[in-house]
Amino acid sequence: MAWILNKSAVGKALRIFVKTYGCQMNERDSEMILSQLQRAGHVIAANESVADVVILNTCSIREQAEVKALGKSGYLSRRKRADPNFRIGIVGCMAENFGGKLFELNSAIDFVVGPRRLHELADVIANGMDNLRTGEPGKENFSQGFDHLRSQSKCTAFVSIMQGCNMRCSYCIVPRTRGRESYRRMDDVAEEVKFLARNGVREITLLGQIVNSYGGRKMSIAGGKTPFVQLLEKLSEVDGILRIRYMSPHPCSFSNDLIAAHGNLPKLCPAVHLPIQSGSDRILSDMRRQYTGEKILQIVEKLRAAVPHIGLSTDVIVGYPGETEEDFAETVSLFDSAKFNMAFVFKYSPRAGTKSAEMVDDVPESEKVRRNQILLKHIEEASLRCHRQFVDHTVEVLVEGRAKRGENMMFGWTPNHLKVIFETAGNAIGEIVRVRVTSFAATVLCGVVA
Ligand code: 5AD
Ligand code: SF4
Repeated sequence: MAWILNKSAVGKALRIFVKTYGCQMNERDSEMILSQLQRAGHVIAANESVADVVILNTCSIREQAEVKALGKSGYLSRRKRADPNFRIGIVGCMAENFGGKLFELNSAIDFVVGPRRLHELADVIANGMDNLRTGEPGKENFSQGFDHLRSQSKCTAFVSIMQGCNMRCSYCIVPRTRGRESYRRMDDVAEEVKFLARNGVREITLLGQIVNSYGGRKMSIAGGKTPFVQLLEKLSEVDGILRIRYMSPHPCSFSNDLIAAHGNLPKLCPAVHLPIQSGSDRILSDMRRQYTGEKILQIVEKLRAAVPHIGLSTDVIVGYPGETEEDFAETVSLFDSAKFNMAFVFKYSPRAGTKSAEMVDDVPESEKVRRNQILLKHIEEASLRCHRQFVDHTVEVLVEGRAKRGENMMFGWTPNHLKVIFETAGNAIGEIVRVRVTSFAATVLCGVVA
């Protein structure tokens, strides 16, 4: 294995830097890692060049994400040659996906810890870091450690409500890297949210691979409400929390009580990220997504009936094996007719071990790029159309921080999840400010305090 135990590095406070790749779940896990390591007596390094230990919290969803993280570990190994006490750890989805093979790919890597064993990191570091910990965990990790979360310095926070995924979408590596679903207790989630509220957090985003399957068969329907809606209602009662978001729901468990909750719970933001992946029923069936384009349109229609100005965004994969020009045209058509105002488009990337990796990746890269660009054009137009409606109107912005450009410029988000940059003399982070929109671009609204 990579490195012979150096006892001098053990038992003393180390400067830790975590670099995060991938999704919000990883961002949340990175916060949990830092809070856990702080509690164990270590400190957060300001940047990677002054760290004793750099932990790469990795993503396996597409090949490109893996290539990036491996490249970074290669870059860090040069530093290790100059400083043998420097340590490199790979955690998260790649740790699970590659396991001990990572030590062969880069012999400078010291430890590898999968997403279901992140709660063991402090122990790995205390024991000299020469370690491989993947596979099923001994205990759950997500109830622990929120008392030092760095989110407390921000007014927004991610709150993990479940881990894993029981679906078997043909292209997706997540069920393999994160395992089957397990759910946090409602009371534990509520306790964390109360803590966050006491520490200045005003907006929470509930995270899970499929948040609306929260509870699964382990929690019961009560008063006609699914466990996820019960949780939303419970969290709505927390004083100090002004806004609640969630990410991402699956269309096949988008129940009517969740749609009704959007109309009934004032703190539940009028914004839904609803991944469609494709608009072709043939491709959707091949992907094992368990819904049709028609079902997406029905959900969207009901959501708009409950909340007319709801912001809707989605994920799309282009160039899935066998995707024809007609299939792609159906995806574009579904995107347009559902009137999504934003989307993330991904070029299909075969992932070893998934069902679709057994099929021929037959859409050429140049065609994936072309389809990607066509969709991006539609997304830009949709976003401009959405933004244009707000000019000369006043929107409510939860102020998150200073904008990068311009003095006295702050940024924040509207309830329906549009980014706003505006001019103000006061520093109002964490407050909701009324902003009159004066201009816009495809990605942002600009304005002045009303
Ligand atoms: N190739 C391309 N995109 C993928 N996604 C998941 N797996 C793949 C893959 N193999 C996309 C889906 C998902 C988002 C997080 O990543 O659109 O919703
Ligand atoms: Fe992957 Fe499908 Fe689960 Fe989402 S629902 S994490 S795409 S398997």
